[in-house]
Amino acid sequence: MKLQGRVAVVTGAGSGIGRAIAVRLAAEGARVVVAELDEGRGEETVSAVRESGGDATAIPTDVSRSESVAALYAKLDDLDMPPDVLVNNAGNASPPTPVHETTDEAWNSKLRVHLDGTFYNTREALRRMFPRGRGVVVNIASVAGLRGLPGGCAYSAAKGGIISFTKSVAHEAAAGGVRVVAVAPGWIDTPILAVLPDDVKAEIVSRIPQGRLGSTEEVAAVVAFLASDDAAYITGQVISPNGGLYT
Ligand SMILES: NC(=O)c1ccc[n+]([C@@H]2O[C@H](COP(=O)([O-])OP(=O)(O)OC[C@H]3O[C@@H](n4cnc5c(N)ncnc54)[C@H](O)[C@@H]3O)[C@@H](O)[C@H]2O)c1
Repeated sequence: MKLQGRVAVVTGAGSGIGRAIAVRLAAEGARVVVAELDEGRGEETVSAVRESGGDATAIPTDVSRSESVAALYAKLDDLDMPPDVLVNNAGNASPPTPVHETTDEAWNSKLRVHLDGTFYNTREALRRMFPRGRGVVVNIASVAGLRGLPGGCAYSAAKGGIISFTKSVAHEAAAGGVRVVAVAPGWIDTPILAVLPDDVKAEIVSRIPQGRLGSTEEVAAVVAFLASDDAAYITGQVISPNGGLYT
């Protein structure tokens, strides 16, 4: 158990990759905080963690709103649960749309959830990690942020921003004993892919050297490693579990 007793905040943990991360970190002994917008899904994740013998609490949170994120960490202060690990995972997506047809709303919703949410949570977590001289922030980016995704300009821009943010904050935070890393998954089998037409999905799979989508557990395993002391000398880096989709 590599995270025994550590408090791990996982945003967007009500579904897909976030839920698998919550279950895996709890299996490594972490006390998981499910910071999810959708209360029902958040509770389902808490049940999934507890059924597998782990410890989880849901605190409904909208990562795109600064005041909601501040309230999350104020609640953790009340519970005397300063975060040791933060996983910025919450995300959203839209059907493929060319840039010249992208609306302000589609653009802003991606930037707010992915990029603003990562900033708000990281800021609050670091305020609680620095005084204790330790902590790990894992930001979920995407291959879209490394190589660009046609039809996904806002998503790619937000994920590219997360990668640059990760490198910048890693420099700052190293002296404070905090590591900051990014995980940039390839195509993973989760509900977020429902925005893609079937023929687009089939074409994507045909380009993956391993010939299949990744599983949420395969991403969670990478996050668990990076969050643990096994990765003590890794900071400011981007790890990409992607089935051989070179970037
Ligand atoms: N599935 C993939 O192929 C893939 C690939 C690369 C990166 N990612 C990234 O992985 C992360 C998880 O994606 P997923 O595939 O599990 O998607 P998902 O749709 O299954 O889960 C996303 C979760 O985020 C929550 N969420 C959305 N907006 C929120 C907000 N404002 N505040 C709090 N929670 C919010 C949703 O309610 C949902 O539970 C995302 O950042 C996504 O961009 C996914």
